[in-house]
Amino acid sequence: MTIDNLKTPKVALGTWAWGDSGETGNRYFGSHLTPAGLEEVVDKAHAAGFTLWDTALVYGMGRSETVLGEVLKRYARSDYQLSTKFNPRIAGTGDDPVADMLEQSLANLGTDYIDLYWIHNPADVARWTPHLIPLLKNGKAKHVGVSNHNLSEIKLADQILGEAGFRVEAIQNHYSLLYRSSEQAGILDYCRNHGVSFFAYMVLEQGALTGKYSSENPLPEGSSRAKNYNSMLPQLKALTDKLASIGQMHGAAAPDVATAWAIAKGTIPIIGVTKPHYIDSLVQANSITLTSNDIAELEALADAANVDTRGFWEQQM
Ligand SMILES: NC(=O)c1ccc[n+]([C@@H]2O[C@H](COP(=O)([O-])OP(=O)(O)OC[C@H]3O[C@@H](n4cnc5c(N)ncnc54)[C@H](OP(=O)(O)O)[C@@H]3O)[C@@H](O)[C@H]2O)c1
Repeated sequence: MTIDNLKTPKVALGTWAWGDSGETGNRYFGSHLTPAGLEEVVDKAHAAGFTLWDTALVYGMGRSETVLGEVLKRYARSDYQLSTKFNPRIAGTGDDPVADMLEQSLANLGTDYIDLYWIHNPADVARWTPHLIPLLKNGKAKHVGVSNHNLSEIKLADQILGEAGFRVEAIQNHYSLLYRSSEQAGILDYCRNHGVSFFAYMVLEQGALTGKYSSENPLPEGSSRAKNYNSMLPQLKALTDKLASIGQMHGAAAPDVATAWAIAKGTIPIIGVTKPHYIDSLVQANSITLTSNDIAELEALADAANVDTRGFWEQQM
C-alpha cells in the first residue's frame, strides 16, 4: 500500500529545456543553459518553497536529469522531490525494462529513490503498468502516475495498480489556455472526483503564451519550438495582451496570469524554469485570484486564436 499520500505543491518546476545544457544539448528549446545559471534557478526556487522538480530520461537523453542531479547536490535529499519518467518508446530488451530505466534515472540524478515516477506515454498500458508495482514495493518509486494517457487508459492503469493495493496518484497532461483537451475529455473531473492530482504541462506553450515572443522577436531560430509556434504568434497577440492587462491589475505579468489560470482550474502547473527571475513569476501566480469573468474572457480569446498546439508525441484525448 502507499503509506503516505502524495504531497502536492501549488506549482512544480519543469526541466525539459535543461536538456539543452552542455556542449551537445539537443537544442529542442534552442536555449544555452549553464550549470551556474541553473544553480541560481534552484536556489531561488528553494528559497521560495518550490521543491518538486519534473524531468524525464528523454529530456536531452539524460542531460536534463544529470544537470538537475548536479545542481541539487547542495541540498539534502529530503529538501526536494524528484519526478521522472519511464518511456516505453525507448524500453530496453531486458527482463524488466522499467526497472532498468529507473536505474538509469537514479544514476543520472544521483539518488536512490524517485518521489513520483511516471509512465511517460500510453504505449501498451497493460504491458507496462504492472512493472510499477515492484518499484513501489521496494521503495525506489514512492508514488506513481501516468502521463499522456486518455481517460480509459488512466482507468485501466488504475485498475492494474489497484489489484496490488496501489493506485494512479497523479496525471500529467498538456493543459494550457490553448489546449484544454483533458478538461473536455473529462480527465480534470475524474481527477477531482477521485482525489488524483492533475499536473498540467506546457501551460506557457513553451514560451509562446508569455507575450515575450512575437513575429519581431521569434522563438530561437532552428529550435523545435520555433518550428511549432513561430507561425502562430500573431494569432496569440490578443490573448497575450489580455493576460498582460489582467496582470497589470495585480502588479503581475502575462505569464504569471497564464499560470494563475491553470491553478484556478484546479491543476498543478509544471512550469519550465530556465531563468532565476521566472521563480518570481511563480510566486506572483500563487498570489493572483482570477475572477470567473477573467477566466471566461481568457478562454474565449484562446478559442478565438484557433490554433492547435498538440505536441507530436500526444494523442487526441
Ligand atoms: N509529460 C510530458 O509528455 C511532458 C511534455 C512537455 C513538458 N513536460 C514537463 O512540463 C514542463 C513544462 O513544459 P515546457 O518546459 O515544455 O514549457 P512551458 O512551461 O510551457 O514553457 C517554458 C518556457 O517558457 C518561458 N518562461 C517560463 N517562465 C517564464 C516567465 N515567467 N516569463 C517569461 N517566459 C517564461 C521560458 O522560455 P525561455 O527559456 O525562452 O525564456 C521557458 O523555457 C517541462 O519542462 C517538463 O518538465 C512534460
